[in-house]
Amino acid sequence: MTAAQQVTTPLIDARNIHTYYGESHVLHGVDLVLMPGETLSLLGRNGMGKTTTLKSILGFVPPREGQVAIKGIPVAKRRPWQLIRQGIGYVPEGRGIFPGISVREHLTMAARSNDRGETLWTLERVLDTFPRLGQRINHDGSFLSGGEQQMLSIGRALTTNPDLIILDEATEGLAPLIRDEIWKIIRNIQASGIASIIVDKNIDNLLDVADRHLLLVKGRVVYSGDSHGLKADPSILDTHLGVA
Ligand SMILES: Nc1ncnc2c1ncn2[C@@H]1O[C@H](COP(=O)(O)OP(=O)(O)OP(=O)(O)O)[C@@H](O)[C@H]1O
Ligand SMILES: [Mg+2]
Repeated sequence: MTAAQQVTTPLIDARNIHTYYGESHVLHGVDLVLMPGETLSLLGRNGMGKTTTLKSILGFVPPREGQVAIKGIPVAKRRPWQLIRQGIGYVPEGRGIFPGISVREHLTMAARSNDRGETLWTLERVLDTFPRLGQRINHDGSFLSGGEQQMLSIGRALTTNPDLIILDEATEGLAPLIRDEIWKIIRNIQASGIASIIVDKNIDNLLDVADRHLLLVKGRVVYSGDSHGLKADPSILDTHLGVA
């Protein structure tokens, strides 16, 4: 096989996924493919299925129909620690910070090298990236401010040295200055070669950062393409997000 013929395996390859909560049919044939190093945004109004798409591809809410492969391996129902082993850092809606556990413990409990044995994100590098966490290192994680908890959640994901980081509403409810800090960090993560899937309400930042976008309406993908395509036809965002 020549170099030109070599095919890179997608980090995530989800085809025609249908997901239900009980009898409620929420995703109707979603396709999502993510290549190594790529940044994908998942857009859509409240309740359109963004979080469910993430939980479906991660195996927390397994689809009833369709296939999901992570790094070429088909996915069944999964527990969070299995994700970490596959090189996926998940920053869930609501942050997932545990009461009674210190900042240091949050940043060391899941720490690991990547599959290639590299530790690009050490505790020291995470603390350099988030100096506020260093100042609170012995505090109970649940006593931090919302912005600090978000940083802790992202920092914890980085200590697992992931190939992919998934951020579900990482800037939700934060003060503007803290939001700007988080976006700066998202750009740093992207520059370091880690792929990401980002759900966020700030469209301008997403248009700026993401290589591609998927726009969901009632569990169906109505747009898949790059920022150029979205900017070229403002009616897409206007119709489906209420922003132009
Ligand atoms: N655990 C659940 N049980 C039943 N229905 C659910 C559950 N979680 C979500 N839903 C429903 O599934 C649909 C998609 O929800 P989802 O949370 O995926 O949307 P979302 O796009 O992430 O919305 P938001 O922007 O509000 O986070 C909604 O109609 C929601 O009410
Ligand atoms: Mg959601």
